[in-house]
Amino acid sequence: SKKFLVVMLRHGESEWNQKNLFCGWYDAPLTEKGAKEATLAGKAIKDAKINFDIAHTSLLSRAQDTLKHILKEIGQECIPVHKTWRLNERHYGNLTGLNKAETAKKYGEKQVKIWRRSYDTPPPPIKKDNKYYECITKDPRYCEGPPPEEFPKSESLKMTIKRTLPYWDNVIVPQIRDGKKLIITAHGNSLRGIIKHLDKISDEAIMQLNLPTAVPFFYELDECMVPLAPMKFLGDPETVKKAMESVANQGKAK
Ligand code: 3PG
Repeated sequence: SKKFLVVMLRHGESEWNQKNLFCGWYDAPLTEKGAKEATLAGKAIKDAKINFDIAHTSLLSRAQDTLKHILKEIGQECIPVHKTWRLNERHYGNLTGLNKAETAKKYGEKQVKIWRRSYDTPPPPIKKDNKYYECITKDPRYCEGPPPEEFPKSESLKMTIKRTLPYWDNVIVPQIRDGKKLIITAHGNSLRGIIKHLDKISDEAIMQLNLPTAVPFFYELDECMVPLAPMKFLGDPETVKKAMESVANQGKAK
């Protein structure tokens, strides 16, 4: 019987990852380290002898640039790249621009973990006087969606899944079924949503999943698009585990 491969990864380190700021829909660029991480991800993909027919990414530069570094490294710069707001990071609401450790000091680590990792508690909605309100809301990259009345003011994981899954089901799945090999570069939380869906992770258990930057992972799917095994990282398990723990620790008061 047929097996279908799909590779996904979170972008490399961004400037706001480096500064430990809630980022969401703010368009923070990759750091130099993030660009290197992306090239290393490309090397891992090359070593695994994987190549692609089509790529999907978000409207945010950190995900698009991660993809560019990878495609360059694997010599596949010419494949079609589809970009959509539906793969964007979850919108971090009024937390956008705040330091995660300082927020934990102010509101408690427990509250910050709820804001970062709970399934259905959204962060507080972004206010018009938030320093980043205008540059996110008025950004012309969103002229094709989401429609103004649906433009998020903040998103829980549940809300993120609600806008990401239609893209998975209606755009990505038909291409996979068609035998196309896909790479998807996106974000910590938009990918947590896809993983929750594919691996049927409960609302409680998904709180413990932290995605490291720029570590590719893959699924082999059967003809019904059901994974033959849970998501697997292309990388040394001990290194991946440490990277996941350090993402979890970004929400500690320090
Ligand atoms: C952000 O948007 O701040 C990060 O890219 C993801 O953040 P998180 O790990 O705090 O959810």
